[in-house]
Amino acid sequence: MENKFSRRKFIGTAGTVAAGTLLVNPILAETVASFNGTKKRFAIVGTGHRATGMWGKDVVKEYSDYVEFVGLCDINKGRLETAKKMIGISCPTFTNFEEMMKTVKPDVLIVTTVDATHNEFIVKGMEMGADIITEKPMTIDEEKCQQIIDAEKRTGKKVTVTFNYRYSPHRAKIWELLRAGAIGKITSVDFHWYLDVHHGADYFRRWHRLREKGGSLWVHKASHHFDLLNWWIDSDPSEVFAFGSLEHYGKNGKQRGVNCRTCDHKSTCKFYWDMTKSKRLMELYADNEQYDGYHRDGCVFREDVNIFDKMAASIKYANGVQVSYSLTTYSPYEGYRVAFNGTEGRLETWIKESNPPAGEEKKNYDELMLTKNFGKPEIIQVPYAQSGHGGGDKLLKDRIFVPGTADNLRQAAGTRDGSLSCLVGIAARKSCDSGKPVMISDLTTLKPQVQKA
Ligand SMILES: NC(=O)c1ccc[n+]([C@@H]2O[C@H](COP(=O)([O-])OP(=O)(O)OC[C@H]3O[C@@H](n4cnc5c(N)ncnc54)[C@H](O)[C@@H]3O)[C@@H](O)[C@H]2O)c1
Repeated sequence: MENKFSRRKFIGTAGTVAAGTLLVNPILAETVASFNGTKKRFAIVGTGHRATGMWGKDVVKEYSDYVEFVGLCDINKGRLETAKKMIGISCPTFTNFEEMMKTVKPDVLIVTTVDATHNEFIVKGMEMGADIITEKPMTIDEEKCQQIIDAEKRTGKKVTVTFNYRYSPHRAKIWELLRAGAIGKITSVDFHWYLDVHHGADYFRRWHRLREKGGSLWVHKASHHFDLLNWWIDSDPSEVFAFGSLEHYGKNGKQRGVNCRTCDHKSTCKFYWDMTKSKRLMELYADNEQYDGYHRDGCVFREDVNIFDKMAASIKYANGVQVSYSLTTYSPYEGYRVAFNGTEGRLETWIKESNPPAGEEKKNYDELMLTKNFGKPEIIQVPYAQSGHGGGDKLLKDRIFVPGTADNLRQAAGTRDGSLSCLVGIAARKSCDSGKPVMISDLTTLKPQVQKA
């Protein structure tokens, strides 16, 4: 591809948006802008992997000038104490959420529990006086989604949903190009995401394998992608029709055990995963199995897996854009393809995040290809940023914790964006179950708007 196209451009990530406007998101501004030297008092509920890393240790290391942790809560008392040590703080710990909220009265509550319980802590947290920062997906069904929308109105508190995927530089560049009218009016999008046999399989090892915990990968995983679509397209999703099947993991396996460490099929199973190689995971999960029986290295072929492992959806937007989306969970490599078709051209990218073909150069940038109708393709290179999720995690945390950080690319998200991303997944899951299209407006009081609010 590189030899074929003549024009090559290095475009940095700090380019200005066509509209040239400086937008400061009121939700995050409100969460952090009151900084006057007094640190915000944060508590965390759900002290697992995400809490200890992204929202714990890293925050203590980078943002201690602005943030003070005043309480940690988890139902697993062993993991709670492990987490406190891993994060490196000395605040009180609680296994009872309400007791924590009453005792330490945090300004902000970070919700990092399993997805199905987010609504409980978001709603109670606001009722007990805190603003909320919640991991995606905001929630897993439409009733819980409505509870959060209602509670935010009722309490006057604010929910921030942490869509780190929006913050990776090349995805931000796509947003900038689309807003600048690079392909005219967007008419349709092809978006296909490939989880590989390592990362994809990992969802089937953990609590994510159960719909009742993670809402299926339509919600747990694809809501990341639906949020990107909603943000890129700049309109609200209105209707979803979907198919899904489970035909690789779960009961489809020829052999199975309870978890990899105790399995009789270690030598023959391609999905055998040796968790003992990770000191961190052993301390966080294996050492605390005695309290809740949870296996981080559960067998991907357990009979109770009740989510889909291949999924496809057609999504219609209020502004008329049509999307073809798919998610695969047992691909040989990890990555995605997205292409935007517009009235004046096409913008596309193919990102391979793992297992690049033999001989392919090691890159430190991602590429986009922009082709104007009747024109020649132009390759745009966007340099990688450091930190997790394509550099997104650090940028997201700067925005959340550093007072006054501007939101030029409208990357901050509140309840409306949090709802509309998971509602696409919820609608897709319902469509798979019923065989019928599902209208987003039938799910909650949110009504799709032609231009994103
Ligand atoms: N944005 C991202 O890229 C990203 C990446 C990983 C995880 N996440 C999200 O972060 C959240 C946590 O994921 P994780 O990987 O850390 O999972 P995890 O299993 O490591 O941690 C979840 C923790 O919640 C605790 N918990 C469960 N129910 C609870 C309850 N009722 N009360 C208190 N604690 C409870 C568990 O004991 C566990 O310690 C999920 O919502 C997940 O979707 C987001």
